[in-house]
Amino acid sequence: MVVLQKAKMIVDKDFRVSEIDERIYGSFIEHLGRAVYGGVYEPDHPDADENGFRKDVIELVKELQVPIVRYPGGNMVSAYNWEDGVGPKEERPRRLELAWRTIETNEVGTNEFVDWANLVHSEVMMAVNLGTRGIDAARNFIEYCNHPGGTYYSDLRKNHGYEKPHNIKTWCLGNEMDGPWQVGHKTAEEYGRLALETAKAMRLVDPTIELVACGSSNTSMPTFPEYEATTLEHTYEAIDYISLHQYYGNRNNDTANYLAKSMDMEHFIKTIISTCDYMKAKKRSKKTINLSFDEWNVWYHSNDQDKQIEPWSIAPPQLEDVYNFEDALLVGSMLLTFLRHSDRVKIACMAQLVNVIAPIMTENDGKAWKQSIFYPYAHVSTFGRGVALRPVVSSPKYDSKDFTDVPYIDSAAVYNEEKEEVTIFAVNRHLEEALVLDADVRSFEGYELIEHIVLENDDLKAVNTATSENIRPHLNGISTLHDGFVEAKLSKASWNVIRLKKVKR
Ligand code: AHR
Repeated sequence: MVVLQKAKMIVDKDFRVSEIDERIYGSFIEHLGRAVYGGVYEPDHPDADENGFRKDVIELVKELQVPIVRYPGGNMVSAYNWEDGVGPKEERPRRLELAWRTIETNEVGTNEFVDWANLVHSEVMMAVNLGTRGIDAARNFIEYCNHPGGTYYSDLRKNHGYEKPHNIKTWCLGNEMDGPWQVGHKTAEEYGRLALETAKAMRLVDPTIELVACGSSNTSMPTFPEYEATTLEHTYEAIDYISLHQYYGNRNNDTANYLAKSMDMEHFIKTIISTCDYMKAKKRSKKTINLSFDEWNVWYHSNDQDKQIEPWSIAPPQLEDVYNFEDALLVGSMLLTFLRHSDRVKIACMAQLVNVIAPIMTENDGKAWKQSIFYPYAHVSTFGRGVALRPVVSSPKYDSKDFTDVPYIDSAAVYNEEKEEVTIFAVNRHLEEALVLDADVRSFEGYELIEHIVLENDDLKAVNTATSENIRPHLNGISTLHDGFVEAKLSKASWNVIRLKKVKR
């Protein structure tokens, strides 16, 4: 008989990390490739609504329950004129889009995107251009979006058919301004000053908004984490969140090492929390700056293919990563990392949502389907609402090329008090062996086990396509609950969702 290795966990309703801000299940749509044109908007598609939005895509986005969508970029925002995307469509200019070297037709702009976001029940997280533009364009833009009326820009919005203000609450002060690839790239000193003055002007127009300042584009940037420190030095009292971005890939085909990369994300989060709190002490401030992890995902599969794209085409297939099964495991671990840090990570946006490094793919004039990474995202977004609990876990560990002491079992737990449900999420990173998870749930008296969802596949490189769904979850996970202890068998290389609910008497 094979004896399986065991991991132990305590899930106690009093060990609370924080109430989860649902915006950690956010996403991102940039005017890039086929995200907008051919993704959310395709007026000639047989399933398009009267405004040109694809209804098949809307249904898939609704399944993910995305509470907030960042827009319109990304790198694209750093040379974007918001005025190009409003008003009569036939008068909107076609522009060279410099970030991705395509042609932007501007058929979709702010108002259309707000309409679409309303259809999928999401808020918009809007970004202003601090690359080629600055304070003036930003204050006019927020007046257009949020001021009720009786002024030039608010009346312009009304003339464009939008009587009521959009009341967009969350605003990004530029994008990745630390990156030399950014149009209008800035040193931290330059950016910090501009972000502060833009924040002041925007808040004078609408004091109710929340503002996100740029941090580092990833942990490998030579200016990380000094960029954050300098930015916060200037902006601390004027902003609410600092932004983090990070993408991973399995370029050397070392899956054990790849699945441990969420530990780098954890290190990133902890470093930025420390940076924020150092600045809080330095400034003798009462205010706490929280984290907006507003770009995260796997991104590497499409890198070579993107080099072949002809410049100045319209909506070419850019950044169309086809995700495999192991990518879903890492994405699961990244989501669990947010839950464990939900006391400080208040916004997170999977980058992106449709076609561009996305959980949802479409064919122009054809089908829409779910990539492998759709599932962990949908599971955590659906069952991860409530209070994140601090799981006390002891798991067997391994070492990989870049990481030591990697727990084979990566986990998090969420308590939904209102629904009287507890969910344990767990990734088994072991590539050869199943493991047993022994979870002490005695504080949840009167609960029963209702479901053990599993995503597993013998082929780590299996993918979904428009015609074959090779990766999909099943409900045949092997778990029992006896005397307040869950015993769950976690298959090798698997994503698991174990759900408990209070029995109604
Ligand atoms: O999401 C793709 C790109 O990645 C974004 O435009 C940019 O912000 C990041 O570098």
